[in-house]
Amino acid sequence: MAGEGKVFGEEIVKEVLFRVHRFSPDGGGARMQEYRVPVRRGMTVLEGLHYIRDNLDATLSYRFSCRMAICGSCGMFINGLPRLACQTQILELESDLIEVKPLPNYRVIKDLVPDLSPFFEKHRSLMPYIIRQDEPEGELLQSPEELNAYLQFAYCIKCGLCYAACPTVATDEEYFGPQALAQAFRYTADSRDGGWEVRMEVACSPEGLWHCHFAGACSEACPKGVDPALAIQLLKGEAVFVRWGLKRLHPPAPEAPKVTEGKRREGIPEPPPPTVSKEE
Ligand code: SF4
Ligand code: FES
Repeated sequence: MAGEGKVFGEEIVKEVLFRVHRFSPDGGGARMQEYRVPVRRGMTVLEGLHYIRDNLDATLSYRFSCRMAICGSCGMFINGLPRLACQTQILELESDLIEVKPLPNYRVIKDLVPDLSPFFEKHRSLMPYIIRQDEPEGELLQSPEELNAYLQFAYCIKCGLCYAACPTVATDEEYFGPQALAQAFRYTADSRDGGWEVRMEVACSPEGLWHCHFAGACSEACPKGVDPALAIQLLKGEAVFVRWGLKRLHPPAPEAPKVTEGKRREGIPEPPPPTVSKEE
């Protein structure tokens, strides 16, 4: 414990039991190991694991980086749901037992560390980038309305929680999964993109979007409000409407004209004279 009556320099409000999944590829089967952890107000499950690692068991393996729900590395199965450990406060779980397991639907490398390679390979296979025939050098024009068509889906941090929650992934490991398909929609809906045909061909393959049964578990698990289930249904709509000729594809957004003459807006004062002469 960091100090008598304190943890991480703050008052302890209770003690909970962490029951943590342990697994080593070097030998021995998987098991659950228990640790008593003092909790302060606002303490996250990730900080609970730090406490265990720093004070009780330095061999515990888990993945994290940013500690602020940005990097997507700390996904775990916490008290029966896929969550980010750094975003989950222990007191908000309203339980004296905190059970922490690795994310389902992934192979376990060690303790709480899943192998995310299949998840990222599927993401890559759906070409999550702007595809164009030309090679623009300047900015591409896009209106606020065009941005809003995909913005929500661009908030994905690739944490893999949706993939862990998906019942279709659980029964069919070939299925692309919610994250990859949501990102396929994110780029298909981007007015700067010209890759509709090639990306949709992959998305509509047997492992693709028609496998989604719209269980919605992915959207419930998503910590960033991306709503991958919605993206997949919109992608299905795209596939049907365009193929049946009910929607026309637009050419990708044009390049913005180069600024040749800068004009100062009215009322904006002139800049102060330079403090260093240009000759120096
Ligand atoms: S869609 Fe949500 S849950 Fe899935 S990887 Fe992206 S941020 Fe994580
Ligand atoms: S540590 Fe980065 S999302 Fe949790």
